[in-house]
Amino acid sequence: MKLDFTNKIILVTGGTRGIGKQIAEDFHALGGTVLITGTHAEQIEELNNVSLKSGERKHFFCVNFTSSQSVDQFLVQLAEYSKIDVLINNAGLNKHNSVENIITAEWDDMMAVNVTAPFKLIRDVSPRMIENNYGRIINIASIFSKIGKERRTCYTTTKFGVDGLTLGVSNDLSRYNILVNTVSPGFIMTDMTRTNLSQKEIEDLTQQIPAKRMGQVQDISRAVIFLASDLNSYITGQNIVVDGGFTNV
Ligand SMILES: NC(=O)c1ccc[n+]([C@@H]2O[C@H](COP(=O)([O-])OP(=O)(O)OC[C@H]3O[C@@H](n4cnc5c(N)ncnc54)[C@H](OP(=O)(O)O)[C@@H]3O)[C@@H](O)[C@H]2O)c1
Repeated sequence: MKLDFTNKIILVTGGTRGIGKQIAEDFHALGGTVLITGTHAEQIEELNNVSLKSGERKHFFCVNFTSSQSVDQFLVQLAEYSKIDVLINNAGLNKHNSVENIITAEWDDMMAVNVTAPFKLIRDVSPRMIENNYGRIINIASIFSKIGKERRTCYTTTKFGVDGLTLGVSNDLSRYNILVNTVSPGFIMTDMTRTNLSQKEIEDLTQQIPAKRMGQVQDISRAVIFLASDLNSYITGQNIVVDGGFTNV
């Protein structure tokens, strides 16, 4: 059995950086056509130019999930694709704040990006998946879909929500050979982690992780590729934690 995504169309949200970028690269390397979103118009234009010139099967779209208008415009662009085989809801926002200091706009933005956009995308692509009797949906949550910590109320709420979305949708769609799962990363070295944690916090955390290292983007991508591939024929509605054992101790 081979990992092969030839003739598959894979949508990866937030694929311009970090975990999403690695996921998009790996699907592309395995033969897939990848639709990738990011928020910076100029960067998206540049990435499309590079992709076109080098004959890559990568198509970049500019969409900001905090704006319902931007999401609606993106859904119109997506309608041009008669099928989406794999949807990876990866884009995410993570701002730390103690509950008494969270302003409503911050709450609304994190809900919009982390929960509402994945819901709208699933609602939009699932009829095409049902028609094909094939689909794989992977929602990227976090260990904060399992545990909590101070100053993470909003993020934790959204990531429990993401896994709730997985569970609900898997019950609706698994009968159509659409397998829906959550992948929950631990501490992965990306811009998000470098912004939110000090060097000292990263060193302390590393000692607390049974694997004794921070996660790399490839650690997450490999789990996603497995769940999206034909190697996964019966796993659905699950939350796979990829954290080097952090939540076990
Ligand atoms: N890194 C970790 O340790 C970690 C741990 C657990 C879970 N996660 C989850 O894994 C996912 C990816 O995290 P990451 O660390 O790779 O993040 P990252 O490096 O901060 O990249 C975030 C991605 O999401 C996009 N994005 C941000 N705001 C957006 C918005 N308003 N609308 C649409 N797209 C937006 C970004 O686009 P631009 O490039 O245009 O800004 C970027 O492509 C997130 O869901 C995150 O919660 C990460």
